[in-house]
Amino acid sequence: MPHSDFDTLHPHADRLRSTPIARLIAEDLHRPRDFALRVGPLYASFARQHYDRAAVDALFALGERADLPEAVRRLFDGHPVNVTEGRAALHTALRGDLSDSAIARDASAQARAARARMATLVDSIRASGVTDVVSVGIGGSDLGPRLVADALADGDAGLRVHFVSNVDGNAVRRTLESLDPARTAAILISKTFGTQETLLNGTVVRDWLGGHAGRDGGRIYAVSANVARAAAFGIEENRILPMWDWVGGRYSLWSAVGFPIALAIGMDGFERLLAGAAEMDAHVLSAPLRGNLAVCHALTAIWNRNALHAAAQAVLPYDERLRLLPNYLQQLVMESLGKSVRLDGGALAGHTVPVWWGGAGTDTQHSFFQALHQGTQIVPADFIGVIRADHAHEDNHAALLANLLAQTEAFANGQASDDPHRAYAGNRPSTLLLLDALTPESLGALIAMYEHSVYLQSVLWGINAFDQFGVELGKQVANKLLPALQGDAEVDDPVTRALLAEIRDRAWG
Ligand code: F6P
Repeated sequence: MPHSDFDTLHPHADRLRSTPIARLIAEDLHRPRDFALRVGPLYASFARQHYDRAAVDALFALGERADLPEAVRRLFDGHPVNVTEGRAALHTALRGDLSDSAIARDASAQARAARARMATLVDSIRASGVTDVVSVGIGGSDLGPRLVADALADGDAGLRVHFVSNVDGNAVRRTLESLDPARTAAILISKTFGTQETLLNGTVVRDWLGGHAGRDGGRIYAVSANVARAAAFGIEENRILPMWDWVGGRYSLWSAVGFPIALAIGMDGFERLLAGAAEMDAHVLSAPLRGNLAVCHALTAIWNRNALHAAAQAVLPYDERLRLLPNYLQQLVMESLGKSVRLDGGALAGHTVPVWWGGAGTDTQHSFFQALHQGTQIVPADFIGVIRADHAHEDNHAALLANLLAQTEAFANGQASDDPHRAYAGNRPSTLLLLDALTPESLGALIAMYEHSVYLQSVLWGINAFDQFGVELGKQVANKLLPALQGDAEVDDPVTRALLAEIRDRAWG
């Protein structure tokens, strides 16, 4: 869809510039009800976004022109939506069977077979006396499992799972120093099994495991689409779980990449996570545009970016267990949508993804909320809350929810004052997503909702959500510079040359 299609939004944005959100709410009695949706355990309110019914009509007209239902169908059916690499993106087949296409059915069958193998490995590790597992991976091979294990492992009798991603040796050192190699297993997760960070950290962990990593009774496992490379690393083939080129790394937590999740919360918990995502899939596939949560979320993102010109988007979970959600979404959203060319390679006329960032409330209220309330840039926010607490500290939970509701209200309504330093302009748009409770099902549904919203935004922008060529250049340059850091090889770039001289000088005298 060309960006010029967004021209239909601009008259609405111009009109609404002088109508603050608080007035839109005051003038439309049914707005709290009509601008909200429930899907299973998830309730979403868009009532505090800076649009009115006419602007929303224009957004849904955009959605119809882009034929979003057909785009969703193509995703589920396994069409090569990743056009630059000629691949499908069948993460939905990892958690359900909603398509009749042969490709999707075959993918679902492969996913089920992999889960059966994973269940056997989970049982054997749990029965082996191992107490801790180190999961080594990065990006999509780390952020999803890390988020879900951190969110759901609370109080569970599962194994303790630790994550190592950064190539900085401090990451692996800190993780291993409190562990006993005799009671620890390791999983190397890498779709390509060629990622520098994972291979270096994996080597450190393999060496640290020593005899325990060996072929007899070994405790080192892998998840990869490149079985040959994982085997060459010394991992027995019966301990290597598959990945496939039809699943993107950042969409892969539902595959064997979720092995650490299953170890942390049990295979049943993992299946429940998948079931929650599948419920959201069924909704996104079948709900009409206006009642479709992912469509509403995606169109709101387009509105904030292309009509209101917001350059940033905050994600603010009000639940400590979801503190890693902003990190996870940064990859999902920004690696998927950080593009400046259309599917056909032509330059885009307008902007795509804003900067996504955030952190858990209430801590963030005492760090960056000042700028959100009174800064010169308006940053739309997704607030995420959990209605039922899973602890006995009722007063804390009431305070948490009070803060959550207060912030969304204060952002929208502001507060006048004769003293400009004490005035709040308000008019800060936000969406509120409420989970009934934090369960594997509700977390699966929430993550799947974001995945679908990202894909729909890519359709509306006419870009590919499933490649990430932008990360390659830095890797290539780093590979060229490594010999210069380790020896005396020369480099071409004069600034890098000066910096290397400085580093050598200081590091080695
Ligand atoms: O950051 C680039 C990237 O290719 C991600 O897309 C991917 O999730 C990550 O690196 C890890 O890749 P792999 O799973 O192949 O190690």
